[in-house]
Amino acid sequence: DDQLIADAKATLIKNDLGGYTVPTHGLYPFQWNWDSAIVALGWLPFDEPRAWEETTSLLSAQWKNGMVPHVVFHQHSDTYFPGPDIWGVKNNPDSTSITQPPVLATVIRQLFEQTKDRALVDSQISQIVQQLIDYHLWWYKQRDPEYTGLVVSYHPWESGMDNSPAWDDALRAVPKVGWEYTRRDINHIDASERPHKEEYDRFLYLVDFFRKMNFDDTLIYQDCPYRVNDVSIISILHRGTKDLLALCETLNIDNKQTAYLAHRMDLTEAAIGKLWSGETSMFHSFDTRSGKLCGARTNAGLLPFFAGLVNENLMPKLIDVLDDWLADQPFAISSTHPEDPCYEPQRYWRGPIWLHINWMITLGLEDYGFFKQAKQVTDASRNLIYTSGFNESFHAETGARSGGADFSWTAAMALYWLL
Ligand code: DGY
Repeated sequence: DDQLIADAKATLIKNDLGGYTVPTHGLYPFQWNWDSAIVALGWLPFDEPRAWEETTSLLSAQWKNGMVPHVVFHQHSDTYFPGPDIWGVKNNPDSTSITQPPVLATVIRQLFEQTKDRALVDSQISQIVQQLIDYHLWWYKQRDPEYTGLVVSYHPWESGMDNSPAWDDALRAVPKVGWEYTRRDINHIDASERPHKEEYDRFLYLVDFFRKMNFDDTLIYQDCPYRVNDVSIISILHRGTKDLLALCETLNIDNKQTAYLAHRMDLTEAAIGKLWSGETSMFHSFDTRSGKLCGARTNAGLLPFFAGLVNENLMPKLIDVLDDWLADQPFAISSTHPEDPCYEPQRYWRGPIWLHINWMITLGLEDYGFFKQAKQVTDASRNLIYTSGFNESFHAETGARSGGADFSWTAAMALYWLL
């Protein structure tokens, strides 16, 4: 383990561009929102100031309306497409115009509780907490303006699960972009492990659409051709708000804003049943444009455990699904259920295993007292690191590298589990 720990640290240090960590050089040469949050957990055990800096560099790109972008373009790079010229945001620092699953609040709570240097914590926590409050208020106000209890997402890139089969139908309703472009991702990674052109054409149509709408939250809510209640974002947001409010309580912050967030959590608890399918006995995302649940069985459907959104009636059913998913699999948890017709064990979010998702699911399982399953998932995750190192994700059946190598969030998870 000593060698593995040294290698994990070296991976973070290699990917450190000074205050922020790239997911991996070449393929992802900027700061990504949820990657950075997870990566802070990896810095924490060996460099506390650097862990906190990872979060403040991300928050430095927060928009005036509270949104924290999905990618921050701190420095120029031409190894990635689409860059800042395509997004057309023109902020300082520059960024994309969409967000990503807000796991940051949960991470900040862990940083707050585990950092030994209390002066370091005291010097920044109040500003960070206010920025998180603004971010979460933005989520509820702008992404659920009708108080349904379920926020919406406007782009598969917001989910972070870009080509998950959950999005297939919703994305098919989005037109293809009308101009030619050159992808950069397939210069770095074999095309068989990446989304198809068909998906990129639609991803880019949406990027254009946001710019044409001048990034106006109200117009986009009305007219965006892709508008999904993403069960992973909803779960991560709910858990994040819970962790944020716990932090506020510790810090004696009790005001209209925290009361508003608590009210929004009640609405989500009342609404989550809409995402349950009796047919599959699990949670799914919901396409608000077609009015249908997204059919594919994906690991996102297990994230309500992380949120504490699985009620007593549904709990045994969802655990049965998980037990079945884990049975006879040397590695876990595939991003798409192996028996789903859309399952592809090597293609990005259509099968490969992602350790940060496993981490969230295990935290949820532990909260519910399912220690056996939590250990099973943690052991299966460690096995992957032992088998093939710090990869972006892992082939669901062989455990081999899938996507980028020398990947920051997997190194961070290794440090989290091994130290
Ligand atoms: C990509 O470019 O593949 C990213 O996932 C977008 O966030």
